[in-house]
Parts: sequence; structure tokens; C-alpha cells
Amino acid sequence: MNREDFTFLEKGIIYFDNGATSLKPKSVIEKMDEYYNDYPSNAHRGDYKTSVRSSEQFEKARDTVKEFINAKYREEIVFTSGSTESLSQIIYGYFKNKLKKGDEVLVTKAEHASVLLPWFDLENKIGIKVKFIPLNEDYTFSIDKMMETITENTKVISIAEITNVIGDIRDIKKITSICHEKGIKVLVDAAQSAGHVNINVQDTDIDFLAISAHKMLGPNGIGVLYGKKELLEELDPIKKGGGMTISFDSPDNIIYKDLPYSLEAGTQNIPGAIGLMEAINYINKIGIDNIEEYTCELKEYLINKLKKLNNIEIYNADVPGFTVIFNVKNVFSQDTAIYLDKHNICVRSGDHCDKKLKDEINITNTVRISLNFYNTKEEIDKLVEALDNDNILEESLGV
Ligand SMILES: Cc1ncc(COP(=O)(O)O)c(C=O)c1O
Repeated sequence: MNREDFTFLEKGIIYFDNGATSLKPKSVIEKMDEYYNDYPSNAHRGDYKTSVRSSEQFEKARDTVKEFINAKYREEIVFTSGSTESLSQIIYGYFKNKLKKGDEVLVTKAEHASVLLPWFDLENKIGIKVKFIPLNEDYTFSIDKMMETITENTKVISIAEITNVIGDIRDIKKITSICHEKGIKVLVDAAQSAGHVNINVQDTDIDFLAISAHKMLGPNGIGVLYGKKELLEELDPIKKGGGMTISFDSPDNIIYKDLPYSLEAGTQNIPGAIGLMEAINYINKIGIDNIEEYTCELKEYLINKLKKLNNIEIYNADVPGFTVIFNVKNVFSQDTAIYLDKHNICVRSGDHCDKKLKDEINITNTVRISLNFYNTKEEIDKLVEALDNDNILEESLGV
């Protein structure tokens, strides 16, 4: 779909590493160029025309994000540098102050380092307990197992809506309704789901959410932290600096601005926010449901083709979604990636920033194909044709 909108695709490269970062449509790049060429001023800092325009576009970007995830208030949308910063800001700025020794946080072994590491840090520093909800046999999330893992000490569940390795789409609405009945807060890592499936924070009643723009057609270095207003009011910013206060003259006399500005210290990534806004406009034009339907259909097509090759081991064949992890038998994943690169096919190999999943899947390194709407069945045919080769290792090593 819409391949003509992506300059990169004119190079004839097949790009299957969308889980790492997506391609950017021309319109996103043009909008950012427009900022740099026509009104490259700081936002909320000047009284002249180009600065006013910069401020207006920055705030319009916030409104666009608000609509995109159906937040109730624009104050609930805080710009960050990406999911990693959003997650750390939430965990260190809110939960570190609320949790005490013995409180339990539920995660799974399929979560990303940006989720697990801050929680492990709190386990070390304040004695909370990070507990793993066992995964199903196919490594997907299990609501039944979540319920079995919850105890009276459980205070938070912190999971991705879609994980970056197995790629299962979790039923966040159901998870939230069960957890809220027990007074458990829900933190959702939407790094892989934003731009792929519909996000509606009011309907799903999510407490906190993290997004990276670069994985959803937007630029690098900008992301979103969503939190319910009453929770954000209690969130302590991990960064302090210009733009967040009305006045201050001593440690006990600091008057902070209202949300969201109280959480946005320093000069903001204005072109990034404008690029993210354009990415959302672009996604809205295609339709998020069309994107989900098409990419899931592509995965099915890929799986059916891969299953016909007897040198391939697939680890998540039956999991609906748009991510496939596999290995060529007896070939290290990185060698497969190097081999495919020789065919101008970009894939990811390794552990994909998920060091704990190996405990469940018994394998540390895999090749990952993560699909997006600009991928095609013809590209998949070329991939499968390249993989249908008994000499992948030799050709990768150039021997
Ligand atoms: C599931 C998941 N969470 C969090 C992140 C971190 O995102 P970023 O590196 O954009 O901060 C990633 C990145 O790959 C991810 O896949």
C-alpha cells in the first residue's frame, strides 16, 4: 500500500525491520523541512511571528496525539524523547514514590529492556518484587495466568500491548478491567502497537501509556507519555529546567506551571512533534484498521510460504500479528541477516532487547521480520526465494 510515498523504497531495498524503526513518508519529512526552512523558532519562548507559529504547531501536534489515542484532556499528552524516556519517567517519577518494599509489579519475560530494567532497578533500590506472569506454550500472554499471579501485594501490571519479539496483541481492555477491580494500576508499553492497531485510552481505561514516534512513521527523538490527569498531577518530573515553572527564587518557593508544561522541561523537540503530527495524519488517511488487517494478512501469507521450506524453524507461526521470528536450521541468526542483506533484504537478528525471553523460548537469537503496510506479497516471495537455499551460511560468510 502507498509505496510511492516512501523515497527509501525507490532504492529497491526490501525493508522488513519495522519493529526497530519504520520508514518515513515524504509528507513527514516535508513538514519537518517546512519547520526548519520557514519558522525555525523555539516554541513558548518568543513573541514574534515565527515563534508564535512554532508554538501553535507544537500544540496542534499535542491535540493530534490526543485525538489519536482518544485521551480525555490535552494535558494528559506529554512529549518525551521516546518510549524509553516515557517508561522511565512513569516508573521513576510516579511509581518509585508510590510503591514500598514488598509491593509486587507484574511483567512477563517477553517485555522490552526499557520496561524491565527500570523495574529491576526499583527492586534493587526500594525492595519491590518484580514477578513474571508465565506465558502460554506459544509464548503469548495469558489472562488466566495473570489472574493466578496476582496477590494482595500486586500494585502494578506493566506490559506491552504488542511485544517486539513474539508480537502477540494483548487484550488491554480486559486486562485493565480485571486489574482495576483489584486496585492494580496498568502501565502499557505501546512502542510496537501505536500506528499498527487502534489505541483508545478512555475505552481501555489505561493508566499510563508510552509511545515512540519513530516506530509509527514519525521522526526519531520524539515520543509520548500518556497518563490519566489525576495521576500525572502526582508525577514528579525526572528532568527539571526551563519552561516548566511560573517562577522560582529558592528551593522552597518554586511555582510550577500546569500540566503538561510542568513535565516538559527544556527546549522541546518541535520539528519532532510536527513530524509526529504529520505521521498521525498520514496513518489516519490510510485507516488504522486497514493497516492492522493488511499486515496481519501479510504475516499469514509469509508463514504459509515459510512452512513450505524445510530448512526454517518458525517460533511464533500461530500467533496472530505482524511479526515473525524464525531461524534457518544450523545457521546463526546474524549470519542469516548478513546473507539476506546481500539480497537487499533488511531483517533484524539477535535477542531484540529482550534478554529474558530466552528463559522460555530456549533460544537466544532469532531472525525477526516485522511487517508494515508498505510491504508486499512480492517482497515476501523474494525473501522466501532467498531463504530456499542450502548454502546460506557459506554465502553469508562469502566462502
Ligand atoms: C516493545 C518495546 N518497548 C519499548 C521500546 C523502546 O523504544 P525506544 O527505543 O524508541 O525508546 C521498544 C523498542 O524497540 C520496543 O520494541
